[in-house]
Amino acid sequence: MLKIESLTKQFGGLTAVRDVSVSFEKGKINAIIGPNGAGKTTFFNLISGVFLPSSGRITFNGQDVTKLRADEMARLGVSRTFQTTSLFDRATVLDNLIVGHRLRTRSGLLDVLLGTPRLKEEERVCREKAREALDFVGLSHVANRLAGDISQEERKRVAFALALATEPTLVLLDEPAGGVNPEETVGLSKLIRKMVDTGLTVCLIEHKMNMIMNLADKIMVLNYGEKIAEGTPDEIRANPDVIDAYLGKEHAAA
Ligand SMILES: Nc1ncnc2c1ncn2[C@@H]1O[C@H](COP(=O)(O)OP(=O)(O)OP(=O)(O)O)[C@@H](O)[C@H]1O
Ligand SMILES: [Mg+2]
Repeated sequence: MLKIESLTKQFGGLTAVRDVSVSFEKGKINAIIGPNGAGKTTFFNLISGVFLPSSGRITFNGQDVTKLRADEMARLGVSRTFQTTSLFDRATVLDNLIVGHRLRTRSGLLDVLLGTPRLKEEERVCREKAREALDFVGLSHVANRLAGDISQEERKRVAFALALATEPTLVLLDEPAGGVNPEETVGLSKLIRKMVDTGLTVCLIEHKMNMIMNLADKIMVLNYGEKIAEGTPDEIRANPDVIDAYLGKEHAAA
């Protein structure tokens, strides 16, 4: 579904992603792990069109999307969550979803601000999608609460709903369980499974190894911007390079 070839991103003298090639299969849960600063988020930013790669190629469903912008990628069906969930804390959860949806699918904010009649109909559709997405992530009961008043775990679910509202086929989740407790992490894992069960393809970045090892079909390991390993959870757990660079002994296979 997604094919990455020799992807590289430089920021001045720093190479954040170096010559990474990998493919993500449709209907699977693909994970990216690695130490802080390894280039994981940058990798997502490249795929989702936030950054233009320095070199390399990205193919999505057979189409070269290397140079597309974030709103163009969203319209093609690639959507994402961010490592920190920025919400408008003084707006309701539902309004956050409506605005978020528009910001992701439109290149210009002007349309939204001017509020033309054509826009009104779009907004109605948008509101419906937002409600569906909230229902899917199990948050219908907080639709009218202020975003500033919900828990971290609920914020994470809002982030999922934001990503789902654009009707993606590929969802990129950047640390979906960051800052939530182990019990809530299990709940979020279930939600990710449910996403895949409805036909979505998921790619996630996460530091929570139990979650990744239980959830992922395939794992890619980045270290200093380079892919150092790729494989099933069992293969990754047993890989000496990965244990050295990231996992340490406690997560290693017996
Ligand atoms: N916009 C940017 N400009 C300059 N350097 C950047 C930019 N974004 C990321 N970097 C650098 O690229 C490297 C990779 O960062 P990235 O955020 O991709 O790491 P990460 O694997 O997501 O880390 P973490 O697990 O802490 O989230 C880091 O050295 C970071 O400082
Ligand atoms: Mg990151």
